[in-house]
Amino acid sequence: MPYEVQGVVARGKGQPVTLETVLVPDPGPGEAVVKVQACGVCHTDLHYREGGINDDFPFLLGHEAAGVVEAVGEGVTDVAPGDYVILNWRAVCGACRACLRGRPWYCFNTHNATQKMTLADGTVLSPALGIGAFLEKTLVAAGQCTKVNPAAKPAVAGLLGCGVMAGLGAAINTGGVTRGDKVAVIGCGGVGDAAIAGAHLAGATTIIAVDVDDTKLEWARRFGATHTVNSRTTDPVEAIRELTGGFGADVVIEAVGRPETYKQAFYARDLAGTVVLVGVPTPEMTLELPLLDVFGRGGALKSSWYGDCLPSRDFPMLVSLYRQGRLDLDAFVTETIALDQVEEAFEKMHRGEVLRSVVTL
Ligand SMILES: NC(=O)c1ccc[n+]([C@@H]2O[C@H](COP(=O)([O-])OP(=O)(O)OC[C@H]3O[C@@H](n4cnc5c(N)ncnc54)[C@H](O)[C@@H]3O)[C@@H](O)[C@H]2O)c1
Ligand SMILES: [Zn+2]
Ligand SMILES: [Zn+2]
Repeated sequence: MPYEVQGVVARGKGQPVTLETVLVPDPGPGEAVVKVQACGVCHTDLHYREGGINDDFPFLLGHEAAGVVEAVGEGVTDVAPGDYVILNWRAVCGACRACLRGRPWYCFNTHNATQKMTLADGTVLSPALGIGAFLEKTLVAAGQCTKVNPAAKPAVAGLLGCGVMAGLGAAINTGGVTRGDKVAVIGCGGVGDAAIAGAHLAGATTIIAVDVDDTKLEWARRFGATHTVNSRTTDPVEAIRELTGGFGADVVIEAVGRPETYKQAFYARDLAGTVVLVGVPTPEMTLELPLLDVFGRGGALKSSWYGDCLPSRDFPMLVSLYRQGRLDLDAFVTETIALDQVEEAFEKMHRGEVLRSVVTL
C-alpha cells in the first residue's frame, strides 16, 4: 500500500509552491522510506522553483533532512526501521571509476530511489536532488540514509544533509584549508557561514566574510569571521588584499554562484592560491577571464560538489563535533516553520532575513 502524505511541490517556473497530496510507494529492493522529522530550506530549492536547475517540473522540494527509517526494501542491510538518519544526496555506488580509484566523494554514479513518487493523479514528481523531503515520508535509495547519533536533534542534524556540509566541506575537503591559512568567503548565507565555520575549525587565522548585507556579516562573526566586508560599498578584491598584507587570500570560497562574485574570488586570492566554487550557477551564466591571468596566477580553480564529502565519514564526525560544542549547528537555525510555510521562507531568504528556516514535522 503506498503512503499518502503531504508535500511541498513546485508546479511551474516561478510559481509559488503548493502543499499537495503525494503518493509514496512501499520501498522496493535497495530503497527505504524515511519519516522526515526536519528539513532545512536551502537556496537550491529556490533555484529549482525558479527553473534554474532544469525544467523537469513538477518538483518535490526539500533535500536537507533528518528523520527515522520507517521501512526498507529487499536486500537492505545497512539501515533498519527505527534508525535515526541524515539523508544525503550523493549515495556512492562503490563501482564507478571514481569509487574504484578510492575517491568515492567524486562518485560519478550516485544512487537515488528507482521507483517514483507521484501526485494523486499519477503525475510523476522530480524530487529535488533525488530526495524530496518537504514531505511527511519520502522514498530514497537506502544508501542515501546515513545513521548518526540521535542525540543531535533533527532540526540541526538535517542541516548536515546539504548546506552546512557543502560549506564546511568546501573549506576543509575541497579547499584544503589548514592552520595559519588566510581565507575569504564570498556570500554568507547558510553555505558561506558553514565555510567560515569550517575554516575556523581547520585553524585558519584570517577569515574574511564578504556579503552585500550587513546583517549577514554580523552573523558571519558568530561562525568565526575575523573581518567583514560589505561588497555593496567596498571593493572586495582590494579589501581582501589589504587584509592579507597586500597579497590576497590562500583560499577564496565563492558561495553565491554568480560570474561577478567568481571573478572577485579569482582576483582576491594570493598567487598559487585556491578558488572554490560552491555556489550553484544557472544555465545561462558564462565567465570570461584573461587566459594569461589564469596561467600567471597559478594555483587551483576547483568546484565543490556537496563539499566533496563522504557522508558515512563526515556526518557522524560533524555530529560528534556538534555534541562536543565545537561546531555550533544551532546558530544556523533562524526559525522553525511548518510544511505550509515554505513559500514564506523563500521570501524571507530572498530578503536576506534568515540563515536557515527549518521545517519541522
Ligand atoms: N555545491 C553544493 O553542493 C551546494 C550545496 C548547497 C547549496 N549550494 C549553493 O550555495 C549557494 C548559497 O546557498 P545558501 O543556501 O547559503 O543561500 P542564501 O540565499 O542563504 O545565501 C546567499 C548569500 O549570498 C549573499 N549574496 C548575494 N549576492 C551577493 C553578491 N553579489 N556578493 C556577495 N554576497 C552576495 C546573500 O546576501 C546571502 O547572504 C546557492 O547557490 C546554493 O544553490 C551549493
Ligand atoms: Zn541544498
Ligand atoms: Zn561511484
